[in-house]
Amino acid sequence: MSATARAAVLRGIGDPLVLEEITLAPLAPDQVRVRIAASGVCHSDLSQATGVLPAGTPCVLGHEGAGVVEEVGAQIQHVAPGDHVVMAWVAACGRCWYCQRGEVHLCRNAIRDVYSMPYASDDAGTALFTSMGVSSFATATNCLGRAVVKIDDDIPLEVAALVGCGVATGAGAALNTAPVPHGSAVAVIGLGGVGLAVLMGATVRGAARIIAVDPVASRREIALELGATHVVDPGSEDTVKAIKALTGRRGADIAFEVVGRAATIETAFAATRPGGTTCVVGAPPPSEIISLPANDLYMQGKTVVGCQYGSVVPARDFPMLLDLWRTGRLPLDRLITRRIALSEVNDAFADLEHGNGIRSVIVNPA
Ligand code: APR
Ligand code: ZN
Ligand code: ZN
Repeated sequence: MSATARAAVLRGIGDPLVLEEITLAPLAPDQVRVRIAASGVCHSDLSQATGVLPAGTPCVLGHEGAGVVEEVGAQIQHVAPGDHVVMAWVAACGRCWYCQRGEVHLCRNAIRDVYSMPYASDDAGTALFTSMGVSSFATATNCLGRAVVKIDDDIPLEVAALVGCGVATGAGAALNTAPVPHGSAVAVIGLGGVGLAVLMGATVRGAARIIAVDPVASRREIALELGATHVVDPGSEDTVKAIKALTGRRGADIAFEVVGRAATIETAFAATRPGGTTCVVGAPPPSEIISLPANDLYMQGKTVVGCQYGSVVPARDFPMLLDLWRTGRLPLDRLITRRIALSEVNDAFADLEHGNGIRSVIVNPA
C-alpha cells in the first residue's frame, strides 16, 4: 500500500526546503517502510542543497535517521514492524566484488539500487528523488531492507540517528579507516559533528594527544570537554606549526581532515609526521583538486587515506557504536545541541553555516 508522509522537499538547488505532503510508493518486496523518529542535519545535506555536492531535484534530503519499522516487504526477514532501526546510507548489496571482500562501504550497487527503488511522489504526482536511499527529513520513508540495522529498543532514537552518518563516518575513521594507535598523537582538523566523533573515536582507541583545530571557539571548548588535550585556533595560529610544536616537531601520527576542503587537506598532510597517515574524512566538492609536495610522499613515507563512511560494516558497527554510548565511552548525546521540528530544518542549515552549536536533530512527535 502507498502511504502519506510529511517531508521537507528540496525543489531546486539553492532553494530553501519546503514542508509538503508526499506519497510513499507501495513497498517493493525488498523494501521496508520506516516511521522516522529522529534525523540529524549533516553538513552534507547543506552541501547537497546548495549544489556543493550533487543531488537530483526535487528530492527529500536527510541521510542520518533512525525510527521504527512500520511495514516490511515480502522478502524481508531480518526486521519486523515495531523494530527500532538506524538507516545506513550505503545499502550494501552483499554480493558485489567489494562486498565479498568485506569492503561494504564501497559497494558498487548501493547507489544504483537506492536511486532506482520505488520511493515517493509529490502532491502533483511528480516523482521525488531520494537522498542516499534514506530521505530522513520526513515523517516516514521507504528504504531498501538491506539499509536498515536493528538496534535495541531502549536506545533513544535521537542518539541512534547520529550513528547513521556523522558518528559512523567520524568514529569509524578513527576505529576502522585509520585505526588510532594506543598512545599516539592525533590531530583533528574541523570540529563539527563528524570531527568531534573522530575525536571521541581517538579517545576510545587510547590516543595520548589529541590536538583539535577549529576557528569556532565554542567548538574548541566542547572538544576539550570530550577529550582533546590541546586546541588550535587556525585564525590566530599557524595550524601546522602549532601541531608540530605539540608533537616533538614531528607532526601528528594521524591527522584527520574533517572540513572537506582542499586547503585543509593540504594542511593535514603538512601536519602529518614522516611515516604517519593523513586521513581525509570531509566531503569536498567533486571539482576540488589537492596539491601535495610529491617529494614528501617519497622522502617522508607518508600515507594519505580517503575515508568513505568510516569504512563501517553497518550491521556490525552500528550496535557496537551504540554499546560504546551505553557504557559512557562514546558520549554521542553531547553532539546534540538543538532539537527541532521538521518545519525548522532551514534554521538548522543556517546554524551549520554559522557554526552555531554542533548537531541539530529533527525530532518527530511519536
Ligand atoms: N581549520 C579547521 N576547521 C575549520 C576550518 C579550518 N581552516 N574551516 C572550517 N572549519 C570547521 C568549521 O568551523 C566547522 O566547525 O570545520 C567544521 C565543519 O563542521 P560542520 O560544518 O558541522 O560539518 P560536519 O557535519 O561535521 O561535516 C564535516 O564531513 O561529512 C562531511 O560533508 C561533510 O565535509 C563535511 C565534513
Ligand atoms: Zn552526513
Ligand atoms: Zn555490494
